Order: sequence, then C-alpha cells, then structure tokens
Amino acid sequence: MKVLVTARMPVEVISLIEGEHQVESYQEDPPLERQSFLRRVADKEGLLCTITDRIDAELLDGAPALKVIANYGVGFEHIDLAGATRRGIPVTNTPGVLTDATADLAFALILATARRIAAGDRRVREGKFTYWGPLLFLGQEVSGKTLGLIGLGRIGQAVAQRARGFGMRVLYHSRTRLAPAAEQELQVAYALRETLLQEADFVSLHVPLTPETRHLIGRRELELMKPTAFLINTARGPVVDEAALVEALRRGQLGGAGLDVYEREPELSPGLTDLDNVVLLPHLGSATIETRTRMGLMAAENLLAGLRGERPPNCLNWAEIQEK
Ligand code: DGY
Repeated sequence: MKVLVTARMPVEVISLIEGEHQVESYQEDPPLERQSFLRRVADKEGLLCTITDRIDAELLDGAPALKVIANYGVGFEHIDLAGATRRGIPVTNTPGVLTDATADLAFALILATARRIAAGDRRVREGKFTYWGPLLFLGQEVSGKTLGLIGLGRIGQAVAQRARGFGMRVLYHSRTRLAPAAEQELQVAYALRETLLQEADFVSLHVPLTPETRHLIGRRELELMKPTAFLINTARGPVVDEAALVEALRRGQLGGAGLDVYEREPELSPGLTDLDNVVLLPHLGSATIETRTRMGLMAAENLLAGLRGERPPNCLNWAEIQEK
C-alpha cells in the first residue's frame, strides 16, 4: 500500500515501513507546506504525520483511501479525531515513550530559570565575564522549594519523582485526585488550583490541550502566583495566555518563565524575546535520540497494524469505530 511520511525520521523507522509498503517520505526541513501535503496524501492508504501537520476535514475529504493515521507524538489536538472516526479511520499516537525525556526537560527549565543559566551564558558569550562578584547573577535555590504540578499524568508524575531528589515539597492539581496510597508513594499533596498557584515557587504545566485547558493560566492565575515564582510550560502553548504572561513578566509580577511551547507556535508573542527572565526553547521536550527513535518505531508499528486491518497498539478511536 502507499504510505506518506511527512517529516524526516530516524532511518530505522522508514526501513520498518518499507519492509511492507511503498513509502513516500518527505525529507526536507522545514516541514511540508499545506498544498504540497494535500497533494501528496491524496492517493495514500497510510499516513505517518507529526504534531505540526493539520489533519482536518479538508485533508480527510481529499484522501479517501486513508486506512490509518499514525501520529508521531502523544498530543493529537491537531487531528480532527471525530472526523476521522466518522470516516472509520483509526488514529494513533505515541504515549509513554517520551515521558522521561519531557520530564527531564521540564526540570532543566526549572533549574535554568531559577539559576539564570541562559542569561549567564549570554553574558559570557558577549565577552562581559570580566570579573566575579558576590552579588552577580543571583538566582534562587531549587532545593527545598515548593513545586506545583498542574496535571499529574505520566509526565507530571515523572517530574514529581525528579523533585524528590531536590528535597522539594510537591503540590498537584488535576481533574482526578490520586488515591491516598498513590499520593503517599509519589510524595505529592493535592491542592486546589488557587492554593497551588499561591504557594508554589515553580508552577509546571502537564495537561493536554483541550477546550477546557485553553488559557488555563491567564491574567487572574498569574496574579495569584508569588512575585518570585516561575512558570514552566512543556505541555502546550495555548494552555497559557501568552500576552498576559508577557505583561506579567514585564511588570515583574513573576520571577520568570521557562517555555518550550508557545501559543501560536512557532510564532512568539511580541515582547517575549526582550525579557531577560525567560528561558525559551524550540519545543524540545521529547528531543533525545533515544526518545525520537522510540516514538518513530511506535508510530510505524501503529501504522503497519492499521494497514493490516488490525487494532493498532495505541489507537485513540478504536472502540468508537467498532461501535459505528
Ligand atoms: C508530543 O508528542 O505531543 C510532543 O509535543 C512532541 O514530541
């Protein structure tokens, strides 16, 4: 069958699919632009796409032979899942394999913001490291501080585990509260969202993007945070009202922010890059060789199963399709 892979992938991923199917693999950077994507997918049975490809009604209507959509990534808000389900197309994602890499990056941002790592690096590169002084580049301690996790799924829990090594107190807020034994094992305490925002020295976001979580952190929530606190976002940009965040940072209402994702990615809100108390990364959460390879192989296995007409291991809409 014919398969479109929309982005450059580790070679093992392409070889695995080529073992069974005819692959058209887009090998350029930046990713496929829309018209070219629509043209290339039109006659394909299999699609291996990434989080930057918009899979909407126009695309689904224009690709009537599609039998499976395998997303390279865990987040799937860019895919019209209901539309795919109506057309009987299984959609898959890659959960679990990027948990540690993303939790590591969230922790890297906690450390980088608190200890002013990026600003210090800039100073050295600018040739301005000309003397040492007791009051230069003072940051804040991470050890022993309070970490507030909004969302406690796989990645939130992995961040909580890392926080233990720093002797941090960990508060969490999520839709469903863990059982007391699980809270005890993870050493986390449930808090109302307001309480968490008021008490945390670091607020780290670990929720998926849904209509309910869009702008979960806006002006009001930022006002509740301590003036020394840091906001860390490795989840999805639109969870934060970015204009409100820029305003809060500009006014010194917050200690700073560590961002890996943006509201209108890859575009940044005006003023963000002028601020010295933010660390900005280009959506690197899962970007390790090991994780990106595991994600690709998982996406390929999902795709191959779908093309065989079998239930893909990580299918988001299998039950709904069977019920139709
Ligand atoms: C995902 O998987 O959704 C990440 O954002 C990209 O790795």
